[in-house]
Amino acid sequence: MPLVHIKNLLKDASRGKFALGAFNTQNLETTLAIMRAAEKNRASCVIQVSEATIDYAGLETIAEIVKTAAKKELKRGRAALHLDHGKKFESIVNCIKAGFSSIMMDASHLPFKENIAATKKAVQYAHKHGVFAQGELGRLAGVEDVVRVAGHEAFMTHPDEAAEFVKKTGVDTLAVSIGNVHGIMKIRKGVPKLDLERLKEIGKKVKVPLVLHGASGIPEEEIKKAIKLGIRIINIDTEIRLAFTNSLRTTLSGDKNIFDPRKVLTPAMEEVEKVVAKKMKIFGSAKK
Ligand code: G3H
Ligand code: 13P
Ligand code: ZN
Repeated sequence: MPLVHIKNLLKDASRGKFALGAFNTQNLETTLAIMRAAEKNRASCVIQVSEATIDYAGLETIAEIVKTAAKKELKRGRAALHLDHGKKFESIVNCIKAGFSSIMMDASHLPFKENIAATKKAVQYAHKHGVFAQGELGRLAGVEDVVRVAGHEAFMTHPDEAAEFVKKTGVDTLAVSIGNVHGIMKIRKGVPKLDLERLKEIGKKVKVPLVLHGASGIPEEEIKKAIKLGIRIINIDTEIRLAFTNSLRTTLSGDKNIFDPRKVLTPAMEEVEKVVAKKMKIFGSAKK
């Protein structure tokens, strides 16, 4: 089936109190693996590309790969296409032209008022074109910040500011910073605990669905608690990348004579599919 609009998936997630996995893709193989996991588990999901992926693959190419894979692979599974961490207004315009039903304006690095202004501009443009918009308030620690978790509190989302941000920007979904961290370092050095009290306070003040970025490596029990407190989209990238590249390493080192890319990529796709399927079950988005 063709891609669906994210608003339909979010409606079901809000009603059913589950979360949609938002899985990053960079290529054909990861896209197919995500779609196959969605189909086998009758799951709804978001498939997302970043500006770095657009630079890598080309916007039209990656968008057409995702659209065609959805048409060919999905019968009972459903997927919506989203721009992850849009920093440039131009990316938002281009992705909307390319048929995305959801974009993110990530101006979370800017001071509060400037974040509001940049996000509001993107939201208004998206809404004029019938597209959903995600904003982010609070800053996630990056790879290099992960060891300074104590100092990270200053960057966490403030519940009152979250309410003001949503009201002033008109975002459809809000990405929060509650101790979640992007990238690989947390997996190597230890995943910080989520501030679930903060999430609860944000949930009381904000009515739009909440988004949890940097969710690779967060234990299942914490994820389930976060879903109970209003998280409706959960972003996973690093665990997918690890499944893919660990498989490539294993296959290539196991057979020094291998030279057919398909022989290397097929097991990598299967490993990605397993990771995605597992997340869909944990998030409650399978068989929906
Ligand atoms: O949160 C960011 C995503 O993992 C995207 O990463 O910009 O390297 O594609 P990327
Ligand atoms: P991880 O790479 O930590 O899973 O984060 C993914 C993400 O937030 C994409 O926006
Ligand atoms: Zn992210």
